[in-house]
Amino acid sequence: MPSVYIKTYGCQMNERDSEAVAAQLVAKGYSLAKSESAADVVLLNTCSVRDFAEQKAINKMRNLVGTARSEKRDQIVGFMGCMAQSRGRELIDQLPDVDLVLGTQKFHRAAEYLDELLAGKRDKIVDVAAEAKSEATIREHLLNGSAKTSVSAFVSIMQGCNQHCTFCIVPATRGEERSRTIPDIVAECRELVARGVREITLLGQIVTSFGRRDIPALDGKSGFVQLLDAVHEIDGLERIRFTSPHPKGYGDDLVAAYARLPKLCESAHLPLQSGSDRILKQMHRGYTREKFLGIVEKLRRAKPAIGITTDIIVGFPGETEEDFELTLSLCREVQFDNAYIFKYSPRRDTPAAGMPDQVPLEIREERNERLLNLVNEIAALKYDAFIGRQVEILVEGPSKKNAARYTGRTRCNRIVLFDGSARHQGQLMDVKIERTGSFTLYGDPAVVNL
Ligand code: SAH
Ligand code: F3S
Repeated sequence: MPSVYIKTYGCQMNERDSEAVAAQLVAKGYSLAKSESAADVVLLNTCSVRDFAEQKAINKMRNLVGTARSEKRDQIVGFMGCMAQSRGRELIDQLPDVDLVLGTQKFHRAAEYLDELLAGKRDKIVDVAAEAKSEATIREHLLNGSAKTSVSAFVSIMQGCNQHCTFCIVPATRGEERSRTIPDIVAECRELVARGVREITLLGQIVTSFGRRDIPALDGKSGFVQLLDAVHEIDGLERIRFTSPHPKGYGDDLVAAYARLPKLCESAHLPLQSGSDRILKQMHRGYTREKFLGIVEKLRRAKPAIGITTDIIVGFPGETEEDFELTLSLCREVQFDNAYIFKYSPRRDTPAAGMPDQVPLEIREERNERLLNLVNEIAALKYDAFIGRQVEILVEGPSKKNAARYTGRTRCNRIVLFDGSARHQGQLMDVKIERTGSFTLYGDPAVVNL
């Protein structure tokens, strides 16, 4: 049977989609190749959020087809995911050796299309149509891969986003919000737990909007909080996380869930984007600086140890030095545990790309560096504050860099390395933090687990 290699760009949703496609192909008899050069089929699962991510995948494809041609190899190559959705056939016009372009609602058709291509029944396939109920098709898992994947798993709960932030291409690449049903999601989670999974991360582009149109509020709880409640009931599951939420989705019901549900880890990724109300409005984010600060305060009141991370865009069209300084001051005020900073990248068919006063690249770069310095300085102080503290970690498996070291995560989502062994895997254990490295904590279990 043919072998396949999938390379993934972008977010955790993409990682999850790739895993589901790989698992579907394995179920049909395909094997997973160790490298692209050894594979009969290579698929690039793409990201369109910034131009840089698209260019990386296009360059990769150019190299792949160049090598295959010079070595006279019959490799089937394809794009899938967000860039496939947004560019469609245009990708084959640009790179005529590409065989398959598979959109974001068609992942479950990968095996069928690859069979046709491999059998020579069809020459090129482009399928980027919408498909009803495709949100419920991302469900197969590859748990027998690395040790780490059998401890912690991702579950896709919804697709799409209706927020239409003016900079963002996701509503175009992922479509309208479509949620799976709670029983369907819980059944998938139960199967995972029965196979040894102890931590589940619920995934979607805007998870706090889960079930907004289909699930009526119950006792003041949104559909998303009802889902958290249902997943929380699963015996044997130790930890629940979710990403990405939208700040406007942090109602009192969700804040209360952190205090109420012991398995819900105290960690929140709260994408801020800007600290200036004027820019937030232009971005169509649906909250103000004050509202954002209020959410952080509520969360910290409910869970003082909560880890809060964020995404920020610098150089959105019309962003002045004053607007940017408001972002800096908000970061000083909130003290994020970590922040991902992006230089604004104009995306096709988004309102922001056509806005006046686009910020020159040098200024975007300069602001990126200033903000990065500030958030790194704050993050380092926050890491140092862990030294001497005892924390609970869930052990995922051996560290990739050094097999004698084991890696786990705190409830607030920080990585901890310690001298461990296979018997620790999948265990919840307490460690004492002895020192810090760059975005890593080093712990010693011996002190507290004698
Ligand atoms: N809620 C979504 C957001 C997807 S994009 C999710 O997490 O899946 C992830 C981050 O990329 C955004 O929060 C934003 O900070 C950044 N981003 C999105 N569009 C961008 C653009 N056009 N230019 C620069 N950064 C962008
Ligand atoms: Fe994009 Fe905004 Fe939705 S960032 S994914 S349109 S919440």
